[in-house]
Amino acid sequence: MKKILVIGNGGREHSICDALARSPQEVKLYNFASAINPGIKNIGAEIITGDIMDMAAIKKIGEKIQPDFAIVGPDDPIGAGATDALAEVGIKSFSPSKACAQLEASKSFTRNLQEKYNIPGAPKFLVSTSADQVDERKYFFEKLEGQVVVKADGLLGGKGVLVAGDHFTDFQEAEGFALLSIKKFGRVVLEEKFVGEEFSLISLVDGETVLDTPAMQDHKRAFEGDTGPNTGGMGCISDENLSLPFITPEDKSAAHDITVQTMKALEAELGEKFIGVMYGGFIATKNGLKLIEYNARFGDPEALNILPILKTDFVDVCEKAIAGKLSEIGQLEFEPVATVVKYLCPEGYPTNSVKNVPITVSPDLQETYSQRVFYASVSEENGQLLLKGSRAIGVLGTGKNIAEANDNCKAMMQNFSGPLFSRQDIGTAELIQKRLDHMAEIRNN
Ligand code: AMP
Ligand code: GLY
Repeated sequence: MKKILVIGNGGREHSICDALARSPQEVKLYNFASAINPGIKNIGAEIITGDIMDMAAIKKIGEKIQPDFAIVGPDDPIGAGATDALAEVGIKSFSPSKACAQLEASKSFTRNLQEKYNIPGAPKFLVSTSADQVDERKYFFEKLEGQVVVKADGLLGGKGVLVAGDHFTDFQEAEGFALLSIKKFGRVVLEEKFVGEEFSLISLVDGETVLDTPAMQDHKRAFEGDTGPNTGGMGCISDENLSLPFITPEDKSAAHDITVQTMKALEAELGEKFIGVMYGGFIATKNGLKLIEYNARFGDPEALNILPILKTDFVDVCEKAIAGKLSEIGQLEFEPVATVVKYLCPEGYPTNSVKNVPITVSPDLQETYSQRVFYASVSEENGQLLLKGSRAIGVLGTGKNIAEANDNCKAMMQNFSGPLFSRQDIGTAELIQKRLDHMAEIRNN
């Protein structure tokens, strides 16, 4: 019997636990969680609640349970050193160390790494460390005719990036945010704004080998037609060829190469191997493929698209990665289906969510291979499911193409009622055509 500790309790961690529990090996799951996730509970995991940012608590739990390995789900505990805390008590993780996780936590670290090791896909960029360097920032801004992105150099809960046109229009506004980042983190990154279609490519790595999962597209804006404030992700799609209709095989292989080179550069720079998930945010532009950013963990909702269709034993993948033997897996095998995931969110999300309000689940709800449900920001109290304010329930539909996957997702959503909304446009032919037209325009100009 293998004991596995999973830290975190969102939709992503529910899908991680689900993938581990599907292993043909005998598995006992432990979940260290800020709150009980009803889905993780239903899988039969033993749940320990507490503060997942408390490194001393993580060590104690590791020592007590003595798991065969651990997976730290969210960026915050990874960035705070949860993997290192577990290593101190002899527990290995399929998650990167704090040093390796700078790849996500520090925008300047990643851009400097790209430059130092000549990794393709970098923007023109400027790292600025002092409030006094205003002339340098102004020069950079004007040279790029204001088409820049300003990135705070630390984790700001998804609010650390301002994009020209979306969030500011002139230098003064950009400068205001740059100064804020310098004050808080000692640095700010200004970089060239790319124009194109974004996609996520998540790879499982052991420092030597990079195994890709399907390319996907997340939808960050809260409302239809990509409007409204940014969110953690309202929904995500992948098509039946395990890619996307609007990106080319060359885009996907260029993204793979950037991840391979970045993984190797990390070891050269830090003297240790990255083990875990390298989640690249890429953008196909008229000048080829570019890197927007890396995350050092599974995406949420992206994990809900890929883990349920993974046919390779996920427990084996994690263990081989930890042992530096991922090459023995060869390739990850996925069901050849399209996936559409959408989050049901509380009304008012993300700025003014209704909270602690019950939702009703149909007694007829039945999960099948093509229709799955993952629980996120909900709690079970006195037999009722209550909304806790953030993305509530992730619904996955799979199918022979995106249209069928979308139909399956929509049908499954009918089982939930209450003050909820989701983005109807994700996965529709109209929105995909818009992406195709956008890419055709970019590639032909
Ligand atoms: P991040 O917080 O790094 O995920 O950035 C949030 C969003 O900002 C990304 O998903 C992109 O839409 C946008 N973004 C970041 N960097 C760039 C860039 N260099 N060019 C265009 N958009 C960007
Ligand atoms: N879906 C975006 C993220 O996980 O960061």
